[in-house]
Amino acid sequence: MPLYIRKGDITEIRADAIVNAANPSLLGGGGVDGAIHRAAGPALREECAALGGCSPGEAKITAGYRLPAKHVIHTVGPIWQGGGAGERETLASCYREALGLAEQAGCASVAFPLISAGAYGYPPAEAMAVAADMILSWLGGHDSDMQVFLVLYENRLRERYRDLRRTLERLSGPPEAAAHGDMLLSLSVSGAHPMPSGAKAEKAEKHPKLKKPLFRREKKNASAADAARESEEEACSADMALPAGAAPHARPFDDTLAFGKPATGSQSLADAVAMIDESFSEMLLRKIDERGMKDAECYHRANVDRKLFSKIRSDPHYRPSKPTAIAFAIALELPMRETEELLLKAGYALSPSTAFDVIIRYFIERGNYNLFEINEALFAFDQNQLGA
Ligand code: APR
Repeated sequence: MPLYIRKGDITEIRADAIVNAANPSLLGGGGVDGAIHRAAGPALREECAALGGCSPGEAKITAGYRLPAKHVIHTVGPIWQGGGAGERETLASCYREALGLAEQAGCASVAFPLISAGAYGYPPAEAMAVAADMILSWLGGHDSDMQVFLVLYENRLRERYRDLRRTLERLSGPPEAAAHGDMLLSLSVSGAHPMPSGAKAEKAEKHPKLKKPLFRREKKNASAADAARESEEEACSADMALPAGAAPHARPFDDTLAFGKPATGSQSLADAVAMIDESFSEMLLRKIDERGMKDAECYHRANVDRKLFSKIRSDPHYRPSKPTAIAFAIALELPMRETEELLLKAGYALSPSTAFDVIIRYFIERGNYNLFEINEALFAFDQNQLGA
């Protein structure tokens, strides 16, 4: 996953570089600047003193000293003056310059705080949007495999998703879509497309370069996330187990569900039947071609790294994790029905009884395919994020 939102203290992260929201003197201050200098020790200030300061939008690199990170990249964000004094461009330049220095230093991973969103007064929502735009466009433009973490010291994002929070609080009642998913999945179980066995999708999705989790809590989170994914996969496989006594197609066969489009009219039955055997990766590649997208454009928009995409491309029976499968549906801006069809190919369905699925449905139904905004909302409600 090229861009990941995490909650935590940036001074604890073992990324190759962490970014400091500094002031022009580079001699330390409050906020994240103060925390980094305290954790790094006095040698950091000595090296900074020799750098001759830093102008807003520029960036300079030093060693990390006592920090777990090898490097500190110091950048000075804009002071918010209402938005009319070029603040956005200065802030964008901070991310661009810092990423450039990280690349020059050969960093495989870099962690950013939310620059200017504290003492400098930049509205946090706008600061997040600038950060995401800049990081994702830089990664896409450089076709870089760098792992970038946006580290939020506090998670105040829920305040921005009041209606979504109300929806999630109402999560109760019979999961009728699970039945819907169950019926759709029973199609896949009944041989329409035998699900491949083999290595757990998640194992293939571990960040190849990061030997140890960057976040001390990551280990816990990673095991929690793995457990969540395991249980999610088990839940899916449970969905895939046909209800006792039900034969495949136990319910009236509704081809508009299985094929995603009415079998008559826009698609011949023969085409529709042919598509039953289409695997996840075959459907994904077909959709990329239909949209005239390049592979790289699609996997960057899906927040998926190149290595994983080449695995999916080369193995017609590759089974991605649910967040990855959905990330591609979002990158392709598939309407709900085609999203469900693509998910079905990977053995998943969207259910109305899990927060993760409800959040995904919420954005697709509103036609919002901004993957970073979706990840913000997933992060706000402590869910796995899209991409891999
Ligand atoms: N880890 C991660 N994020 C942090 C940490 C931390 N340890 N401490 C603070 N933050 C977050 C804040 O919550 C905020 O969202 O970093 C973001 C940036 O806040 P500031 O540190 O205040 O930086 P900024 O708004 O860019 O102001 C820079 O403040 O500390 C002084 O010397 C600094 O003069 C400079 C100014």
